[in-house]
Amino acid sequence: MNNIPLLQVALDYTSLPQALVMASLVAPEVDIIEIGTPLCKAAGLEAIEAMREICPDKLILADFKTPDVGGLEATMAFDAGADMITVIGGAALATVEQAHEVASKRGKIMLMELTGVRDIVARATEWRRIGVDRLVYHREWDAQSAGREWAEEDKVTIRQLIDMGYKVTVTGGLTLDLLPFFADLPASVLICGRGIREQPDPRAAARQMRLAIAEIWSGNASPSPSASSSPMASASADLGAKAIRWGVSEMGLALTVDGRECPGCNSPARFCHGSRTDVRIPSGVDSRQFMTQLIANMGPGESQAVGTDTPGTFYLDVGALSRINENNVLGLLSATSVALQKVGHPTNTRAAMSVAHEIMSE
Ligand code: 5RP
Repeated sequence: MNNIPLLQVALDYTSLPQALVMASLVAPEVDIIEIGTPLCKAAGLEAIEAMREICPDKLILADFKTPDVGGLEATMAFDAGADMITVIGGAALATVEQAHEVASKRGKIMLMELTGVRDIVARATEWRRIGVDRLVYHREWDAQSAGREWAEEDKVTIRQLIDMGYKVTVTGGLTLDLLPFFADLPASVLICGRGIREQPDPRAAARQMRLAIAEIWSGNASPSPSASSSPMASASADLGAKAIRWGVSEMGLALTVDGRECPGCNSPARFCHGSRTDVRIPSGVDSRQFMTQLIANMGPGESQAVGTDTPGTFYLDVGALSRINENNVLGLLSATSVALQKVGHPTNTRAAMSVAHEIMSE
């Protein structure tokens, strides 16, 4: 399967200071920080603003579970610094539409929360028609404490949703022990709250969770999502990385390798090795919006192949793709190009694809 879901930590606190302490502890080990619904109610926009301040480079989700006034609540959350929001599945279609429109216009993400929804596939069909493409499939806390277990039927429904084109987040009392049950599902994100927060060492618990996810979803015992070290794999990683480097250059983007001038991929003096390409974010582009878009454009589990760890730059890592083939390499380029266009920076996608195709056919 090889699509590695992202890990989201849910901060279901009623005290903002406690939530901030937990966020700073676990942030390095997770992909998305969730401001849980109780915290949204207790500390609201202040929680989003404070979380953005202490986790400037993380995706932040405000779990509003908005029931009405979708456009306004989405605007408030995004203005405060959130990248993602949820709308409750029972909301009127107009609410979903308005929240979705605000999210799309601002390059942000809206997810439908399935808590309490009985006719999931019927509702999901309506939402799909208006362009919604992300859902949170939930075993609710109260249902869990009343004895609801995860069951095969849940996976059947989740698979149906994925087949409809949804990226599905799975949540509800997830623990390390439960992960193997979901191993055959290409989930996009897994949320874990109590399973991390309530452990004696939450950071270690988050790290363990993330490693277990990588191990299970990459289908082998290696927790690293990077390309394997076999000569065949490293040759294809090298070719894929070359296609990416030429492709992004065709898009008019600058590669960043310690500021040195590139002597060319075929030069024996080349310094650009490995599967990863570092690229400068064009000036005038809002890096957070761009990264949100880029991650949203990647297929389920493929978002490990993109990221940012130095201000002003982002990376594309073919070694972290589920498979290094032409399709996936071109997909990485087109996701980059579409993300740039969505944030108002036009690029030459066709030229990038064409040069990458030539290189991948070498
Ligand atoms: C409750 C939620 C929680 O954030 C979600 O269930 C994840 O927390 P946990 O892993 O503790 O179940 O949305 O409604």
